[in-house]
Amino acid sequence: MVEETTLTTNDLIFPLFLVDGRNQKIEVSSMPGIFRLSTDLMLKEIEECLKLGIRAFDVFPAVEEHHKDKTATKSYDPGFFYLKTLKEIKKRFPEACIMTDVAMDPYSSDGHDGLVKDGKILNDETLQILGRMALAQAETGIDIIGPSDMMDGRVGFLRNALDKNGFTEVSIMSYTAKYTSGFYNPFREALDSAPKFGDKKTYQMNPANRREALLEAQLDTQEGADFLMVKPALAYLDVIRLLKDNCSLPIAAYNVSGEYSMVKAADQKGWLDGNRVMQEILLSIKRAGADVILTYFAKEFASNANS
Ligand code: PBG
Repeated sequence: MVEETTLTTNDLIFPLFLVDGRNQKIEVSSMPGIFRLSTDLMLKEIEECLKLGIRAFDVFPAVEEHHKDKTATKSYDPGFFYLKTLKEIKKRFPEACIMTDVAMDPYSSDGHDGLVKDGKILNDETLQILGRMALAQAETGIDIIGPSDMMDGRVGFLRNALDKNGFTEVSIMSYTAKYTSGFYNPFREALDSAPKFGDKKTYQMNPANRREALLEAQLDTQEGADFLMVKPALAYLDVIRLLKDNCSLPIAAYNVSGEYSMVKAADQKGWLDGNRVMQEILLSIKRAGADVILTYFAKEFASNANS
């Protein structure tokens, strides 16, 4: 009666890793219980999750090295497997809400989110590539694009490109406050997408900064974002609360790969009760102010809720 926060599967988005081929199910070694799936098995996985009450998914492709290049050409090639899979998912499950990631890293031979020249990231040149990527993804019928690249001005640029091409109904979940973080390593293993040199500090945020998150939120709101995301979640609960109290858009939080791996590792060692801690973590992210949580725990949470 007096409980203040309620968490349900409706709040969750389940990130999924896609690989080319058939009948492929490869566990990510640093993320027990999370697999890279080929199209056929991903369709099955989505079907199972829908039955459990999960209705939103974020699909990330793992791209083979020989398909990567400086300009991330495969990210907007309609014949490339991930775009064909997205189309198939939306055809089979039109009721599923599908989100995609807009950033160059999975398709870039440099492993960076933007275009690299002489060791530097070129912000404005990157926008052109992100625009082509977002349009190719929108073409497949997906519902939400998630620019995770952190280039300046990309939300307005992408909104404009989508609108001009008739995709007025595709929403943008902006990675508003995405911090440079050690918590992304298991994800980079899942996609083989670690930067080949340097780090992402020139475009991702400094973990020391809070006020800058507000500035980013104001810019993204003006540029036409539909959701504002904070990432990672656990070490940034104060930032989630800050945006919740100061912005009117829905707030999303990304409970990232490393946050998942820590719980799984401690559970496997018998040091923590993983299931209990998962509930507590997700509840805390919601209590901090998140309306939407992207989490690798989504299926486990939903399975509990259904049992
Ligand atoms: C790519 C991207 C990353 C994540 C989501 N999109 C990694 C990065 O920026 O290096 C991380 C997700 C996770 O750790 O679960 N731009």
